Amino acid sequence: MQITINDKTIEVQDQDTLLEIARREGFEIPSLCWSKEASHKSSCMVCAVKDLSRGQIIPSCTTKPVEGMHIDTKSEEVMQVRTMSLELLLSDHRADCEAPCSLVCPAKLDIERMLDFYDKGQREKALGLIKHAFDLPKLACEDCKAPCEKACRRGNIDRPVSIREIIKELTEEVDVANVEEIVNEAINKKLFQSRLGRFNDSEKARLKATVTAPSNCLHCACAGKSDCQLRTHATAHNIKRPGYDISSELQVMLKTKVNDTMYFEPSKCIRCGLCVYNSDNGFTFKDRGFEMEVNLPEENKKNIREELASLCPTGALYLVEN
Ligand code: SF4
Ligand code: SF4
Ligand code: SF4
Ligand code: FES
Repeated sequence: MQITINDKTIEVQDQDTLLEIARREGFEIPSLCWSKEASHKSSCMVCAVKDLSRGQIIPSCTTKPVEGMHIDTKSEEVMQVRTMSLELLLSDHRADCEAPCSLVCPAKLDIERMLDFYDKGQREKALGLIKHAFDLPKLACEDCKAPCEKACRRGNIDRPVSIREIIKELTEEVDVANVEEIVNEAINKKLFQSRLGRFNDSEKARLKATVTAPSNCLHCACAGKSDCQLRTHATAHNIKRPGYDISSELQVMLKTKVNDTMYFEPSKCIRCGLCVYNSDNGFTFKDRGFEMEVNLPEENKKNIREELASLCPTGALYLVEN
């Protein structure tokens, strides 16, 4: 059969989807809830295209070609639908991409990751990050007014993490010879930032009871911040700020340990279902409509395979380094 994509008429078979055909022909269409290797159902509409022959907006990831179709992949209208779909997904996405402390550090030290290594006793890795950001860590921190500690979210709950003290403790082990100047390059500065609002009292109490790292750090940053597809698409569509529902009672920053190597964070989940459709007696959907959540019953944890983490398009499901 023949179909037309933008201005190109092509001969196609009906076993592939419009998304696969278009990409093969060199047309760019983003996708989020789709995976070539896995079962999926269209839910995000980030792959929207317009079927000009019927005047309909359709998801290209699940639609098969029909003789005479004329597909538009790039008009303003199509771009607006994709942007609106992303904004809708982000409207109740109550999560941080980067931790507040790291965002305000003048040297852009990835403080949260450094503290994660510190909390796991991996002092050399923590030091590696410090050395990567600073040429002269002791002096840089001593001369700095420590905006990181002012921004530290733990301060909203009891007292901020002693970031400078910890850096000092670590850097006393370092030979700081061969150093030149502070790295001022902002890391990820142009990327989309989802930002968490302030905690209410019940969230503060829950976090205080649950988060008990040696440094006291809440580990605010998202584990998926470097390869999150939602973040990548939000950046590409120039979405600056999602319209938060800050009263939303999602499980803010709470993590479920799936097994020794994997964690699940419900607040980062976009309910695409890739983990549900691709685990046997594993993840499930709970409730319907706006209330719908992805859930992992305790008795199903044993059925979760590591490969699922790579299917998740966000930072909701991830592997940890031990
Ligand atoms: S899941 Fe993606 S968009 Fe959400 S906080 Fe993590 S990196 Fe940011
Ligand atoms: S709690 Fe940890 S990650 Fe969060 S702002 Fe404070 S130091 Fe940074
Ligand atoms: S955990 Fe990940 S894969 Fe599962 S529904 Fe949420 S975003 Fe999708
Ligand atoms: S990628 Fe097609 S609907 Fe999500």
